[in-house]
Parts: sequence; C-alpha cells; structure tokens
Amino acid sequence: MQLTGLRVSGLSKSFAGVPALREVSLDFPAGAVTALMGENGAGKSTLIRILGGDHRPDGGRLELDGVRLELATPADARSAGIRVIGQEPEIVPHVSVAENVYLGSLPRRSGRLLDRAALRERMRADLTRLGFDRDLDPDTIGSKLTAAQRQLVEIMRALTTDAKVIAFDEPTSSLSDHETESLFALIGRLRRQGLAVIYVSHRMREIFRLADRVAVLRDGALVGERATADTSDREIVRMMVGRDLSTLFARKHNTPGRVVLDADAVTTDDVTDVSLQVRAGEVVALAGLVGAGRSELAGALAGDLPIRSGEVRVDGRKLRLRQPRDAVRAGMGYAPEERKAQALLLHRGVRDNISLAMLDRLRRLRFVRGGAERRLARQYVESLRVRTPSIEQEVRKLSGGNQQKVVLARWLARKPKVLILDEPTRGVDVGAKIEIYHVIEELAESGVAVLVISSELPEVLGLADRIVVMQHGRVTGELDREEASEEAVLALAMAADLSHTSRGNP
Ligand SMILES: Nc1ncnc2c1ncn2[C@@H]1O[C@H](COP(=O)(O)OP(=O)(O)OP(=O)(O)O)[C@@H](O)[C@H]1O
Ligand SMILES: [Mg+2]
Repeated sequence: MQLTGLRVSGLSKSFAGVPALREVSLDFPAGAVTALMGENGAGKSTLIRILGGDHRPDGGRLELDGVRLELATPADARSAGIRVIGQEPEIVPHVSVAENVYLGSLPRRSGRLLDRAALRERMRADLTRLGFDRDLDPDTIGSKLTAAQRQLVEIMRALTTDAKVIAFDEPTSSLSDHETESLFALIGRLRRQGLAVIYVSHRMREIFRLADRVAVLRDGALVGERATADTSDREIVRMMVGRDLSTLFARKHNTPGRVVLDADAVTTDDVTDVSLQVRAGEVVALAGLVGAGRSELAGALAGDLPIRSGEVRVDGRKLRLRQPRDAVRAGMGYAPEERKAQALLLHRGVRDNISLAMLDRLRRLRFVRGGAERRLARQYVESLRVRTPSIEQEVRKLSGGNQQKVVLARWLARKPKVLILDEPTRGVDVGAKIEIYHVIEELAESGVAVLVISSELPEVLGLADRIVVMQHGRVTGELDREEASEEAVLALAMAADLSHTSRGNP
C-alpha cells in the first residue's frame, strides 16, 4: 500500500530547555481523521503549530506525500497545502467578514477599487458550499463577531484555497450545537475528498464520533495510536494520564442554607425578567443552548453589563452594580467565559494571576504577603494540576487549558460568598475536570453559593443541586436534581421551538 498523507518523524521541541515534544513520530493518512489527545500541556498545540509553520522544531522531519517539507514560516505551510485552524483566530476588527475571509486575495475592480458586490457573491457561494450559510453574514464587521463566528471565519479562510492537510485545535469549544453539526458535516466531506484531517479535542464524544484514529501524547511523547473502532474512552484516558482514572463524579449533596444570591426580575439588553436564587452551599447550574443569554445574565449579576431593571441582592442587601468592583466588594466572584481576553495578565506570572483577586485581603497582612501568595499559588497549581515549570512562569507561556485553570484558581482561592463560573471546564482535560468538580464541591460544602454555566449536560447533571434553564433570554423552567435528565433539560432549552411544533409548524 502506498502511504499518502503527512508523516512526522522524530519531532522534538523545547521551550527554554523544557521539552514540549519528544521525538514524536506519527502518520496522518490522507482520507482519515486522526484525533490528537492528551492532558493540558501534553504538546498537542505545539505539534499543530509546527505543522502550521509557527514554530520551528529543534529536530525531526516532516513529509507530505513522501516529499520532505521545510516549513520556516506560516506561508511555507500554506503553500505546501497545510492549514491550521488555531485556538485564537486573528480577525481584523473594522472590516467585514467577507474581507476578513479573503484577506490578501480581494477582488479589485479596475486594478484598485475593492469590488464589494463580487466579494459578497463569492462569499455567499463559499458559505453555501461549506454549509455555513445559516451561521455567518458576509457583511458583519469583524469586531461584532462572536467567538464561534471568528472560528468560522478562520475555517472559511483555510478552505477557500486547496489544502491537503487541515488541523483543528479544539474547534468546537465555542461553537453552538448547530455550528458544531455543520463543522462535523464539513469534516466528513473533507475526509471523503481525501484530505488528512487532524483533530484536537478534550471531548471524548466528539472523538468517537469523528475520528478514524486516535494518537495520545503524554509529557510531549507519543504514548500510542489506536483505531477508534478498537479502543474505548477508558483506554484513552489511561493512556493520557498513565493510570486508570474514574471519570465518574458523584457529588455529595448537602442541605442548602440561607439565600445568598437573589436576582429579582433582572432585565438587561439580552435578558428579560430573570429571577433566581442561590443558597449557601448550593450549586445551581444555568443550562441552555449557546445564545440563550446565560453569559449575559452572569455578566450583569457581576456588574460587567448594565442592568435595565430589576434587583440583585447578596445576603439580603441590594447591590448597586455600576462596575465589576461593586460586585466583588459585595462578595461575588466571577470567572467569565472568555478568560484570556477578560481576565488574565498574560505577561505576569502564575502566582500574580492567582493572587490578583486576593490583593485586598493579603495587603492587610503585608508582612506575610509574599509567603501567603506563594503558598496559595502552589496549593492550586497542585490541586488543579496546572502544568507549569514554576509558579513564576508567565501565563502566556502556558498551554490553553492550563491558562483556564489559572483564572479559575484565582476565584476558587478567594472563596467569595457567591461564585459565578462560566464554562469552568472548557478546554480542560478529563482528569483536571474531575479535580475542578471536587474543588467546586468543597466550596459548596464550606457554604459558598455557586452558580455554574455549562454547555456540557453530563457536567450540569453531575454538579448541580438545581438546574435553571434559559432560552431567548428568559427562564423557561427549573429542575431539581432528582427530576433532571438530559432530555428534560433539552426540552426546556428548546421550549419555545417545541411549543411551535406542537402547534403544527414544522
Ligand atoms: N511559547 C512558549 N513558551 C514556553 N513554553 C511553552 C510555549 N508554548 C508552549 N509551551 C509549553 O509547552 C508545553 C506544551 O504546550 P501545548 O500548548 O502544546 O499543550 P497542549 O497539549 O496543547 O495543551 P492544552 O490541552 O492545554 O491546549 C506546555 O508545558 C507549555 O507550557
Ligand atoms: Mg492546546
């Protein structure tokens, strides 16, 4: 059999002497989806960045269809036919989607002027061809795009020219269900067209649905490869972590205490008349589809987005929320969804980032501050398994999942009265997810009122005492732990559409 596709052999890469990849040899055959899995910091993105020409390997070689490649720049990778859909798409803020997609190959009229009509036409044709015509409007301005739409722009960019290899680095972490389905359909087509598809994800369900083969990295080394048909999630987790791991999480539920967070008829630009309460020791999950208004509600409760009418009370005291600081003073902690943009000091160390929210408290104890900070940072680096050479490492040098854990650690460490966590385990590996669940459980046990937003239903069902479901900016229902099931949550998340169909509209 003649092997075509991409082959990497003996690939190595270190950062400041710390190895991120160790002599990895791996085939990415044409016409197949190869999934790359491994814990946070295992080296997945580093491998993908080398393929994209963003990093130069310290050693090893790349071959495409038997021909050796030298990738010194991203342009080299592109001209070789390798496309990478990264975790943070670069979008020009003040120009349209269409211009963002065709950047560099814009149709010009009479040599200079941009031919907008031709551009829009070409964009619509490509959107339809790729199956994203419902998801993206060619005229939207870059700065107005959601995280999901940014990702789609990046995918469009990659696929408007011929490619032989396409690599996706956690593409679905910010996509809605519908967008995810469109992406999966697209990946299926690319595979049938004979592309070598590389797919990085922490979501086991996706791997078993999409991939033909799974390769597992641990500490930068290849642990093994399996055909998806011949393996199990249990075996993959064992390969990732190096030991058996129970991925089941059964929370101890306690009797909730007094009402701590009390939102009363809160209305914002995106949310209408939402009332909900969270008690001390209680974990309440906000469920719903992407775009239901959950993050907007959380942002408003945390003083990040303006409230038009309604009241927010903490421990019975009405809050005047003009800025996030007002919420923090009242005892609220809030880890937003887009952690990197909103929350991290990328050029500061892990320790500084974790202790950020603590400064007020630590400042009072000035003379023990250094020691207390270090102890705290070490404790959370350990309990959340943050992979970093030291607590002084700059956060921008950590892998994506480890950055997530640092922001989370900051708010967990603060032990506020109310803790709002928006997608706390996004981008986090299976082992660390369980650790995060345990920390949330412990906080609840110590009396914190926790409000969690999550798009992963098993997570919602495993963690929550109570589930509040939203759609179109309104609460459509509430479920107790005993009555909650995936079906029941989904029915409420799509309540408006379902009542339509029952009236006979398809
Ligand atoms: N620019 C950099 N400088 C220093 N170290 C880096 C840099 N980029 C990556 N690393 C280190 O290389 C290792 C591998 O990181 P990589 O981003 O490849 O992990 P990953 O498998 O993609 O993890 P995740 O699942 O969290 O995205 C990590 O220990 C990370 O801290
Ligand atoms: Mg990564």
